[in-house]
Amino acid sequence: MDDAILAEEEAMLEDMRSRVSGFEKERGNLIPILQMIQGRHAYLPPEAMDLAAEHLNIPVCEVYGVATFYNQFRFHPPGRHPIKVCLGTACHVKAGDIILENFERKLGITDGETTPDKEFSIERVACVGCCALAPVAVISETVHGKMAPSKVEGLLLRIQIEKEKAERERESGKREGEK
Ligand code: FES
Repeated sequence: MDDAILAEEEAMLEDMRSRVSGFEKERGNLIPILQMIQGRHAYLPPEAMDLAAEHLNIPVCEVYGVATFYNQFRFHPPGRHPIKVCLGTACHVKAGDIILENFERKLGITDGETTPDKEFSIERVACVGCCALAPVAVISETVHGKMAPSKVEGLLLRIQIEKEKAERERESGKREGEK
């Protein structure tokens, strides 16, 4: 695993540990603990479940049971480019599910998952409020209306090209600074 990702995960674990320890060891604090962790880190990693169970002295399966019961919790980190595909009624009747499936195929992940390099995550959502543009996908807060399955690859490619361009600029800036 990438050193930067490893360091990020260690820092996250440390942060969770210190904050969870600030909660009273009462069963009723389970949801507030999970909400606090998700509020800070945008998802609940497996370590969060272990920490909560250990702190409250309850079985880990009970923590999973509670966390999976509420759909406010997510179990994968959002990607740097979160993709939300609308499957509200207007988008659904215009084949939003085919668009979702196309994103899933191209990225090799399914709804609720994140690519291993943490670049993309996919989430199906209900109406995002622009039904006139159906079907709609939202990528990193940018709304893409009148989506079509054939547009999926182009959108992903554009993000990839922009990323490579930013990397090249960073590299050349670094080289300039070393001169
Ligand atoms: S149903 Fe998709 S934007 Fe409203």
